[in-house]
Amino acid sequence: MCGIIGYVGAKPVSEILINGLKRLEYRGYDSAGVATLDESEFSVRRAVGRVDALASLIEEEPVSGSIGIAHTRWATHGQPTHSNAHPHLDASGRIAIVHNGIIENYNSIRTFLEDQGIEFQSDTDTESLAQLIGFFYAQTNDVLESVRHALREVVGSFGVVVLCQDAPNTLIAARRGSPLIVGIGTEEFFVSSDASSLVPHTSQVVYMDDNELVCLGPQGMQATTIDAQSVEKEVVTLDITLEEMELGGYEHHMLKEIYEQPESLKNATRGRIDRTNCQIVLGGLAPCLRELPRFKRLLLFGCGTAWHAALVGEYLFEELARIPTDVDYASELRYRNPLIEEGTLAIAISQSGETADTLAALREVQTRGATTLGVVNAVGSSIARETDAGVYLHIGPEIGVASTKAFTAQLEVLLMMAIDLGRRRHLSPERTHRLIDELTEIPSKVEFALDLNTQIKGLAAELADCDNWLYLGRGVNFPVALEGALKLKEVSYIHAEGLPAAEMKHGPIAMIDPQMPVIAICPQDHTYAKVLANIEEVRSRNGRVIAIATESDRRVRDLTDAVLYVPKTHGLLSPLVTSIPLQLLAYHTALLRGRDVDKPRNLAKSVTVE
Ligand code: AGP
Repeated sequence: MCGIIGYVGAKPVSEILINGLKRLEYRGYDSAGVATLDESEFSVRRAVGRVDALASLIEEEPVSGSIGIAHTRWATHGQPTHSNAHPHLDASGRIAIVHNGIIENYNSIRTFLEDQGIEFQSDTDTESLAQLIGFFYAQTNDVLESVRHALREVVGSFGVVVLCQDAPNTLIAARRGSPLIVGIGTEEFFVSSDASSLVPHTSQVVYMDDNELVCLGPQGMQATTIDAQSVEKEVVTLDITLEEMELGGYEHHMLKEIYEQPESLKNATRGRIDRTNCQIVLGGLAPCLRELPRFKRLLLFGCGTAWHAALVGEYLFEELARIPTDVDYASELRYRNPLIEEGTLAIAISQSGETADTLAALREVQTRGATTLGVVNAVGSSIARETDAGVYLHIGPEIGVASTKAFTAQLEVLLMMAIDLGRRRHLSPERTHRLIDELTEIPSKVEFALDLNTQIKGLAAELADCDNWLYLGRGVNFPVALEGALKLKEVSYIHAEGLPAAEMKHGPIAMIDPQMPVIAICPQDHTYAKVLANIEEVRSRNGRVIAIATESDRRVRDLTDAVLYVPKTHGLLSPLVTSIPLQLLAYHTALLRGRDVDKPRNLAKSVTVE
């Protein structure tokens, strides 16, 4: 949700900024811009649309210098126009800023500054911050103090990087609510919204915390709070490789990440299964191991795909650990005055670890006394750092905006957590052995499911013209139906709905006609007969049914228009295989509709505004 990068050092800054923006582009792609400083003169370039448009502009009108800031935008306040693109400058033209987040009191700041005669150039909330810094700077001539002063006045969230013409060797960066990471090179510094743009340059980073500010330049890095208290920061080594972030011969990151799943699912379990002692070993839970058996209730929350994973988690925890489990949208949780009883363990699920709604919900349940765990992919992210303990996915970066490999890894981690909790309570060694055996076979079963690719491509060609799709599932596969529908919506822009199969007859059945594909997930578990009955109901209304079924299930073949067969597995693990054809179906349908699957319109990978 907006990507920002800054550089100060000895190298020409232009290429560093553009390449950095390309790696951050998945965070937003409505417009992009840079500001560089050379001999105390700003060069500012902005372009509407993708980073490529900005790169072309800079080829025609180069920028110079070895200090600069850049931004790729996901619009919140103001249309994606040239004037709303970052960087934003103050009225004097001496201060330039890039910003990720929302300045909630921008209106009152703007009114105040306009009353002082300051003219605004854009409709953005960000410009009010740039102008406010400039307003204080005009009075004090001290840029650092002006930044601090302005940041104390603003309400809302920010990751912000500031450049001042009169301090031509210094970047000032600060955060509250929106992520910022400092990269440390040899006599150079980078600052970025996430690690992806730093990897080509350095593996040494410092994660900034909320209400911190850094000054970067030849003098080194000075870290303080926004209120000027000095803070000690730890330098951390990144464990992301460049290769993990490249396309590696695939046409899209989404397809690459779908195909990575046999490997990512192995990685998520690596070193965590102890067959000899029939247990799961999740090192990240160490800080609260003793407390684990004492929890009386679980509360899982997340957004989008992570919320779907939480819904599967509810089945897993209740079935295997026999603990009452609730699931909430992170965005709703904090607004309904939640009752957090003593003995509540709250689990925040997030691929990026930076989703603002999930972070806000986490803080809310913490203040109400819950112990918190994170199920997070991005190492060092805010949610990972703010939870009491947690389990990383360990699947490498997920770049495609549509989450695929993170979803299945979230399911796998939640399953391991449920087994672990179950073992500490009532789960028998025999049942645990069976689950562990099935879990270790999942990667090869996912590979088998990936072999459906050609069949799915053909199916997508038959269905791509349909404008409304329905996804049905029951039990653990109900959230898979939701996830299948979400994948299709976000990458193809086709309207789709996921439903618990039995709910269809309570209303949505009215929509059934031959133009609306119904994707029914019906593995041979305890819900099988009921889902078949639901399929019959669709057929008797001339509906068109595509089933995701267990291999060699002949019955389902006779009832449906097409079947995508996946390998048989334990019922609770079936979402790990039934999700795969749905991801491929969304991918191919989107391609046939001419969509940019890695950067669907209006979306951003990491939603860092509430
Ligand atoms: C998934 O395909 C979406 N792009 C989106 O729903 C995503 O899962 C959601 O924004 C949560 O992100 P997070 O896992 O990084 O918190």
